Amino acid sequence: MPLEIVRNDITQMACDAIVNAANSRLAGGGGVDGAIHAAAGPELLEACRKLGGCPTGEAKITPGFKLPASYVIHTVGPVWQGGGAGEAELLAACYRNSLALARDHECRSVAFPMISTGVYGYPKEEALEIAVREISHFLLEHDMLVYLVVFDRRGFQISQKLFGDIAEYIDENYVDLHAHERSESQIMATIAAEMAADYHVGASHSPANMAPSVGLPMPSAQKLEDYLKEALDESFSQMLLRIIDEKGISDAACYKRANIDRKLFSKIRSDVHYKPKKTTALAFAIALELPLEEAAELLMKAGYALSHSNKFDIIIEYFLKKRRYDIFEINEALFAFDQPLLGG
Ligand code: APR
Repeated sequence: MPLEIVRNDITQMACDAIVNAANSRLAGGGGVDGAIHAAAGPELLEACRKLGGCPTGEAKITPGFKLPASYVIHTVGPVWQGGGAGEAELLAACYRNSLALARDHECRSVAFPMISTGVYGYPKEEALEIAVREISHFLLEHDMLVYLVVFDRRGFQISQKLFGDIAEYIDENYVDLHAHERSESQIMATIAAEMAADYHVGASHSPANMAPSVGLPMPSAQKLEDYLKEALDESFSQMLLRIIDEKGISDAACYKRANIDRKLFSKIRSDVHYKPKKTTALAFAIALELPLEEAAELLMKAGYALSHSNKFDIIIEYFLKKRRYDIFEINEALFAFDQPLLGG
């Protein structure tokens, strides 16, 4: 997945580069800066000293020394002063300049902390929006795996309004599984009856009729093949490619909007029977801005359904119904509700 929100200690991330929320003297400090210097060892401070500081919004690079990452990109976020001092533009510049530096050093993966959201006091909700917007904008033009590392889940909240709306939607729609749970024998009896009906129209639906011992004729391989030819529907991959064509968008625009990398997309393109994960199938439904029914159909082609017994599905349904197709916004919401994220 080109942009992943993860909960971790950034010093543990084995990426090509990790980003440090530094100060303009590049002199080390507390928070994530302190953690990175402690894990990289004293050579990092020596390397920083040679850089002559870094203005707010810009970025500089050093080796990672003892860190699992090869590089540390030091960027200086703005101190929050109420929002009227150009903080948003400066924070956006931190992400843009760090990503440009990572690209110039041929990094394939880079991890960001939530710059400015600690000691510098930037409101987390707004900082997150800027981070996601700048990273996803960059990813439209470049191939890179970018992690946004959230250290503390409490520090990460989608807007209270969105969180409240989704929570309410879940409450209204969540069906307690147990209320609808049928006993295993009831389910088996139903499946058996359905199979019996398929194989032996007109016969009693008793499961006993299915057993070969009572002489049910088995279909020949040829007959089955003919039946399959007739009955086999458009596959997931065929439907996906058809909609991409109908919408007149490029493959690249589609997989980027779906937060899916090129390799996975090529696999799906070249294998007509490819069975994606549910999160991948849904990511495409979102990227293609499908209405709920069509999204459900695409999902069904991959063998899945949206159910009200599961919070993940209800959250997706919420966004589909509202026709809000920003995959990064959806992923922020999924993350806030502890659900798996959309993408490859
Ligand atoms: N891994 C990932 N994220 C972390 C870690 C860690 N090990 N430690 C802290 N964070 C998170 C914080 O929870 C916060 O959301 O990083 C975010 C940024 O917080 P700060 O480190 O305080 O950075 P910032 O607000 O940009 O302030 C920078 O603090 O340490 C000094 O020298 C630094 O003066 C500079 C200032």
